[in-house]
Amino acid sequence: MPKILAGILAVLFSAVQLAFTAEVDYARDVKPIFKERCFACHGVLKQESGLRLDTAAGIRFGGDSGSVIKVRESAASLLIERVTASDEANRMPPEGKPLTAGQIESIKVWIDQGAIAPANEQLAEDPRQHWSFQRPTRRSVPRVKNESLCGNPEALGRASRPTLQLRFVVVLAQESFA
Ligand code: HEC
Repeated sequence: MPKILAGILAVLFSAVQLAFTAEVDYARDVKPIFKERCFACHGVLKQESGLRLDTAAGIRFGGDSGSVIKVRESAASLLIERVTASDEANRMPPEGKPLTAGQIESIKVWIDQGAIAPANEQLAEDPRQHWSFQRPTRRSVPRVKNESLCGNPEALGRASRPTLQLRFVVVLAQESFA
């Protein structure tokens, strides 16, 4: 009998606990934590342990040890194990202060509520793809579409200046409206 009572109490307790747990929103409450503390090593530029935490898809996909979250089971999730690890060698992030209790709670609740995230989450653009990082390449000179308008240099040499200017304008106009 006491066992059953304990069971009922446990169920009641978790129901009450659930009712009082605020809904956690991935974009608002969870992603900013990863962005601030994890992206530097698990994002676009670095993927330590093959792990990316900059999208929910990456979090679900996991790293070298496989999945880092177990949906609806935060207690069995490697990610929670690593952010709550008491020995510093294991704890994530390895640098700076550990995550706060509130941050850890938000991530736990998010996992326990099903690790829901928008389907259309965009991957951050790799800053190395920005044009300012690209090596300049020489473009080939565009071909003139109507070669007959160019004339040969010999003929051009004999034409008067206004004629040359007019030809130039005509070719430009042809090229831009063709
Ligand atoms: C300064 C770099 C750095 C930061 C910041 C960092 N990590 Fe890591 N993380 C690592 C390295 C290096 C490893 C691989 C070695 C290890 O497992 O300890 C790793 C491994 C992991 C693993 C194990 C992955 C696997 O597949 O084995 C998890 C989970 C993890 N990190 C979570 C996090 C979380 C969550 C944060 C942010 C709260 C974070 N890390 C921030 C460097 C970092």
